[in-house]
Amino acid sequence: MKAAIIYSYGSPEVLQVAEVARPQPKADQLLVKVFASSINPIEWKIRKGMLKLLTGNNFPIALGFDLSGEVIEVGARVSRFQPGDWVYACMDQLTGGAYAQYAAVAEKVAAMKPANMTHEQAAAVPLAAMTALQALRDKGHLKPGQRVLINGASGGVGTYAVQIAKLLGATEVTGVCSGKNIDLVKSLGADLTIDYNQQDFTQGTTQYDIVFDVVGNCSVSACRSVLQPRGIYVTTQPSPGNYLRSILSALWPAQKFKVILLQSKHEDLQYLKAQIEAGNLRSVIDKTYPLAQIAEAHTYAEAGHTVGKTVMIIA
Ligand SMILES: NC(=O)c1ccc[n+]([C@@H]2O[C@H](COP(=O)([O-])OP(=O)(O)OC[C@H]3O[C@@H](n4cnc5c(N)ncnc54)[C@H](OP(=O)(O)O)[C@@H]3O)[C@@H](O)[C@H]2O)c1
Repeated sequence: MKAAIIYSYGSPEVLQVAEVARPQPKADQLLVKVFASSINPIEWKIRKGMLKLLTGNNFPIALGFDLSGEVIEVGARVSRFQPGDWVYACMDQLTGGAYAQYAAVAEKVAAMKPANMTHEQAAAVPLAAMTALQALRDKGHLKPGQRVLINGASGGVGTYAVQIAKLLGATEVTGVCSGKNIDLVKSLGADLTIDYNQQDFTQGTTQYDIVFDVVGNCSVSACRSVLQPRGIYVTTQPSPGNYLRSILSALWPAQKFKVILLQSKHEDLQYLKAQIEAGNLRSVIDKTYPLAQIAEAHTYAEAGHTVGKTVMIIA
């Protein structure tokens, strides 16, 4: 089968589409014929070697976490799926392996694909939307009636976060984005928008119950003034300093500082599927690329201006 792999860390050109052995599913895995995958910043960060303390030097390394496709084979202990099912998933292997014609995916990180989405739309969802859900629901403890700010509302995580904040009951969602993306962010349900080129949201007078810093570029001390006295700040950046801040902030009852680290879960994919099928959640797709153009796709995504998601068409 064809798969995008790297033999060394580096620029997008290290990505090669090579002929590799089809994976064999273990007892708790599905073998999925992948129709579409999508790109998340973690993948270009792995490709560049930014996480090599974790990912090591055991090349070749296969990349890609998100996929949508058809179950071809199931392991002996799999109970929820059967061959022929259309599923979507966020792989839980350390470096992934979804930029490939076939992937062996643990049953616990897959769910049936939302029926009203194409494979391209479904492949955009898992990593980004689960991150948004877990950040707002599990870290932010979002309650109906709250006021939420999403910094980075036009990107992969942000486009889902705006919609999920509304469906969890936020009465006022503010999306921080550039001027060109304001109409999109409003169309996703944001009540208010702030153009980051015109205004620094940390200098505003509104106090939010939750600030979800998807971009991860605002200083914690600056954010404090725009958080309610018991407000919660959630960042996507799992640095040692941010973990230390989160441990310290847990020690007293005032403003909390939290780090989201996505855990791929069948239950959350099921929840997202239900919301998508109810018409409460959609994918925003910026560009699509065939697998052969994976280097171009990474170059585009790494520039940091993706509107929604960049999707790979595999089949
Ligand atoms: N910890 C976790 O589990 C986890 C999970 C998922 C993602 N992440 C991290 O979260 C970050 C965001 O991920 P993503 O998938 O959303 O990235 P992304 O799709 O690449 O984000 C691109 C978007 O960010 C916007 N943006 C850039 N600078 C901005 C700024 N200063 N203020 C507001 N918006 C800005 C861009 O809009 P413009 O073009 O208008 O600038 C663009 O629409 C990445 O660092 C990623 O690694 C962490």
